[in-house]
Amino acid sequence: MLPTDPEKRISFTRCIREGDLVIVYERHDCMKAVKVCKSSSLQNRFGVFKHSDWIGKPFGSKVFSNKGGFVYLLAPTPELWTLVLSHRTQILYIADISFVVTYLEIVPGCVVLESGTGSGSLTTSLARAVAPTGHVYTFDFHEQRAASAREDFERTGVSSIVTVDVRDIQGQGFPDEFAGLADSIFLDLPQPWLTIPSAAKMLKQDGVLCSFSPCIEQVQRSCESLLLNFTDIRTFEILLRTYEVRQWKTDCSRGNEGGLVGSLPHKRKQHPIEGSGEPDNQNSSSVMARPSGEARGHTGYLTFARLKCLS
Ligand SMILES: C[S@@+](CC[C@H](N)C(=O)[O-])C[C@H]1O[C@@H](n2cnc3c(N)ncnc32)[C@H](O)[C@@H]1O
Repeated sequence: MLPTDPEKRISFTRCIREGDLVIVYERHDCMKAVKVCKSSSLQNRFGVFKHSDWIGKPFGSKVFSNKGGFVYLLAPTPELWTLVLSHRTQILYIADISFVVTYLEIVPGCVVLESGTGSGSLTTSLARAVAPTGHVYTFDFHEQRAASAREDFERTGVSSIVTVDVRDIQGQGFPDEFAGLADSIFLDLPQPWLTIPSAAKMLKQDGVLCSFSPCIEQVQRSCESLLLNFTDIRTFEILLRTYEVRQWKTDCSRGNEGGLVGSLPHKRKQHPIEGSGEPDNQNSSSVMARPSGEARGHTGYLTFARLKCLS
């Protein structure tokens, strides 16, 4: 489903087909992944949506129910997939994922090693970043989790770029066959310091490692281990501040009393911009952005380190 192999590539300008995975989007905090099957329908609070009406429409289309309600059919990008996947473990979210992909210097063609796979949230973004010619080898010691992740990678269309193996990475390290071949390595393990010596052997010269840990004590132990073979060790905590953009309907009969920057206009009604479904009257509404109450706080620490050069 993701734009990977040029042959199989979905540009997302192409139309929805039978068997496609689509993200049915009601609003930013209400969406689900649905496999399109022409004999099926989706029922929600807006009515019944026949999948057969979706086939042939471009990704991004607004589709209507039998009651005139609507949803959007979006392409299953890694960003949206992270929001709808089934949580079998704690997962990485977009703020951390973006930082990881950038600081691990992942580009098409890279070979990336990862452990643990968990729910495959990060893996899906890694796959898109290395596609079409690179590969992600991801390891988890939990057989059922590895199997579920494999199924998800089939559904999202990245299975040709991702190999999932069952292995105790803390106990056994990464397989020797990858020695000196990895461009980057990502660890989301309870005791990453046990794996760091093996990770050092797997990296190409100048390769980069990242370890995600929720607690600072884990970071300290990891850094002690990293000092042996790595340089440029840096830890980050990524805090994201989300703003809600809302449209305020103003009471025009009260003049321009609410026009001051930062003050609220006299309001009749407020609602988020998205999905309002109401006609917009430019003369009687204004738009405000303010920090969202739902902002996510601490997720974990990201520690990056570069393999020491040989000479
Ligand atoms: C928090 S989850 C990873 C979540 C993942 N980063 C994501 O974004 O979906 C940690 C995973 O590490 C796995 N794990 C823990 N110890 C392990 C070990 N010794 N070897 C391999 N995997 C391990 C667990 O089974 C779990 O699935």
